[in-house]
Amino acid sequence: MARKTPKTSLKSPKFNTARALRAADQHLVGTYRRPKVVFVRGKGCYLYDAQGKAYLDFLGGIAVNALGYSHPALVRVIRREAARAIHLSNLFHNPFQGPLATKLAEWSGLGRVFFTNSGTEAIEGALKLARAFTKKNAAAGAKPKTRFLALENSFHGRTFGAVSITYPAKYREPFEPLVPGAEFVRFNDVADLERKFDDTVCAIVLETIQGEGGIYPVSEAFWQRARQLATQHGAVLIADEIQCGLGRTGRKFAYQRFSAKPDVVTVAKPLAGGLPLGAFIAGEEYAAALTPGIHGTTFGGGPLVCAAALEFLRVVEKEKLLENIKARSEELQAGLKKLQPRFDFIREIRGEGLILGLDLAIEGAPIAEEALRRGLIINCTHEHILRFLPPFNIRSQDVREFLKKLEIALEKAPKKEWKPAETGHTQQNLKFEEAAHAQVSAAAR
Ligand SMILES: Cc1ncc(COP(=O)(O)O)c(C=O)c1O
Repeated sequence: MARKTPKTSLKSPKFNTARALRAADQHLVGTYRRPKVVFVRGKGCYLYDAQGKAYLDFLGGIAVNALGYSHPALVRVIRREAARAIHLSNLFHNPFQGPLATKLAEWSGLGRVFFTNSGTEAIEGALKLARAFTKKNAAAGAKPKTRFLALENSFHGRTFGAVSITYPAKYREPFEPLVPGAEFVRFNDVADLERKFDDTVCAIVLETIQGEGGIYPVSEAFWQRARQLATQHGAVLIADEIQCGLGRTGRKFAYQRFSAKPDVVTVAKPLAGGLPLGAFIAGEEYAAALTPGIHGTTFGGGPLVCAAALEFLRVVEKEKLLENIKARSEELQAGLKKLQPRFDFIREIRGEGLILGLDLAIEGAPIAEEALRRGLIINCTHEHILRFLPPFNIRSQDVREFLKKLEIALEKAPKKEWKPAETGHTQQNLKFEEAAHAQVSAAAR
């Protein structure tokens, strides 16, 4: 019989919020601006702060906590494996890597898996695979294939390779020089893609739906042309599904809405139910480019995280969560559409499944702050786009509560017209947004 999760006290006498905040302020590297709240536990799609106040979490640890908090099946597996072996090293087999790879191969339609600790490392591995694959298959005397194509407004991670193919200048410029050979294609612009694609390209990397960028889906026409050009030029088509994959759209992978598959797909975020685990999944012929010793990791794919990931995928299937995602998404989108006429600053509702965005003509941060005060966690990206990434197992009543709380936040929050700064990233992104906004609106008509 499953043991009950012990209750942690919501108001632990040993826990002092002010002291925790002071320590963070004094000793953490200042890379995050955080509200002054400390979450101490979660249950379902709720988080609780140290005073016991409940928050409905529609951000889910940025698309990670897809089963919410303390899902009993996950807790059981993590407990069991923590008491057996947390880590073994990749010099030995563990009981879960093979079965997890089999499941991911089945879900993705691609044959082989390499496990990592994070999304950015999955991207690094995929980029290295592309270089190794194209080098191995290069015709004698051919020009070296070293260029990476990515999309304007993309986000692929923070390590050097991943940040080199990440578009916003604010993420790249402080760290230059970066990995050479990266070039950005205008979002969903087939003509620009054709102009930039030639025999020197080793990979094109696409987020099937841009997440950090503000929930922008890649068009079918663009995907199909990228597929054709990659095949024609012997380059690798890499789908970055770290945020939009593994069920979030109501499909196992977001690219499954297209007829053509990528050669490699990267995953991470929800894979191990909140424990750090990522992977790249590659077709057989691509994976064959990586031979013993040329790539590796100490932590990636340990027994504890792989057992948790197997359980996560099992729960998604057993609890029919893909169907739940689609049904809840319809309710959410219908509710958001009802709000639109009341708040004329809502420019657009975008997304699919449980990756949704509200594009505003005003600043989004005051709304996210007001929502937090009222016990709702959402996120604002690119200064004016609210992003919703709730767990896959939310219920209709959670959707109703979310809509109610969001409505109040939209009503009560101070409204500040969103004025893009004159220079830098905002201007760079504004050009992208104008074009992408027009494309998404045209596609919706
Ligand atoms: C599409 C995409 N790729 C890559 C990453 C990087 O993943 P990680 O933060 O786990 O390194 C992210 C993170 O937000 C992402 O959304």
